Amino acid sequence: MNGRLELLAAYPFERLARLKDGITPPAGLPHIAMSIGEPKHAPPSFVVEALRASLGRLDSYPATIGLPETRAACAHWLQRRFNVTVSPETMVLPVNGTREALFAFVQAMVGGTDSATRPVVAMPNPFYQIYEGAALLAGAEPVFLDTTAENRFQPDLDAIPAEVWKRCQVLFLCSPGNPTGAVLSLEFLRHALELAERHDFVIASDECYAELYRDEHAPPPSLLQAALASGHDRFRRCVVFHSLSKRSSVPGLRSGFVAGDPALIRPYLLYRTYHGCAMPIPTQLASIAAWNDDAHAAANRALYREKFARVLPILQPVLDVVEPDGGFYLWPDVHGDDEAFTRELFATQNLTILPGSYLARDSRGAHGTVNPGRQRVRISLVASVDECVGAAHRIRKFLETSK
Ligand SMILES: Cc1ncc(COP(=O)(O)O)c(C=O)c1O
Repeated sequence: MNGRLELLAAYPFERLARLKDGITPPAGLPHIAMSIGEPKHAPPSFVVEALRASLGRLDSYPATIGLPETRAACAHWLQRRFNVTVSPETMVLPVNGTREALFAFVQAMVGGTDSATRPVVAMPNPFYQIYEGAALLAGAEPVFLDTTAENRFQPDLDAIPAEVWKRCQVLFLCSPGNPTGAVLSLEFLRHALELAERHDFVIASDECYAELYRDEHAPPPSLLQAALASGHDRFRRCVVFHSLSKRSSVPGLRSGFVAGDPALIRPYLLYRTYHGCAMPIPTQLASIAAWNDDAHAAANRALYREKFARVLPILQPVLDVVEPDGGFYLWPDVHGDDEAFTRELFATQNLTILPGSYLARDSRGAHGTVNPGRQRVRISLVASVDECVGAAHRIRKFLETSK
């Protein structure tokens, strides 16, 4: 047995199920799930149609590198969205959603685990839990960079001692962030890249929420743009992760891609060939249709914008919550125990959210050892507009009656 498996923490939803165990919510209120990060908008019909029309292609094994057409569609989208040019031959790989890709990337990149100095994988805190699990299973030490209201939810890269950067092999960034919704600026990304150059590590930029942003005039930048701005037109040390799950509301399709430094993509492809995670051809053909169309992504974004616009005026008089720059989560400060808040909300309103502390780890800071997710909760605005508005009224009622 791989002893490192014992290092893995329970997934946040397992802990949530335990927290809710034994509670009977009011029967008269239908349940609303705002805990999950699963988009609930209808998948675009042309994507479903492209999938259906290509089912005949199930008769052959797909290649891990993907069809040239798939890689070209991803490269074209990067060009339109970020104005960056990547070679579809050497700089792009399809992946079965970013979750598996993020995990596999760390397994392929981390080395030297038997040497005296333990490799480090650095990540924001709170984080998407796959980053931590990937680091632990690869034999690296996860190092957490707290993202709090004080640092505007930007990881403080300068707080990491040089000794730790020296051991760092992979730095995860997530922009727009889950759960904070914070967007990392081009300046921030360039600074991260400077550190990567200085200390010789790779940056894995999780950009799976890159298409969900509020301001149509200020879309979140990509690490690839920062690389270009720093003169690295072959994206040295940079890999970005993109997904159709949130952009096109097709989490079940399991489709995304990675792009970046060909010197990293090549060994990663080798790893993936052995791992056996090629994307089925019908999935690729449906994905091409999705990446080639921007109108449905804009309509999707408008729907999220409407939800924030409707929900926030209901919540803000009673809850310390701001509109995030990107993503589809609210990340309010509840000024109290986040587990108790979550449990009571479920018990009285039949509404499930996620305690913020489940998404983060204790870390030592200026104020002692604290969990930077504590006293916050994550509320996903994934349900329909009406359901989200109904949920906001329930949260308001809960807060007004529990005072
Ligand atoms: C930050 C982040 N990264 C990656 C993923 C994985 O998305 P997918 O595997 O569907 O592309 C998620 C899903 O919730 C996420 O929140």
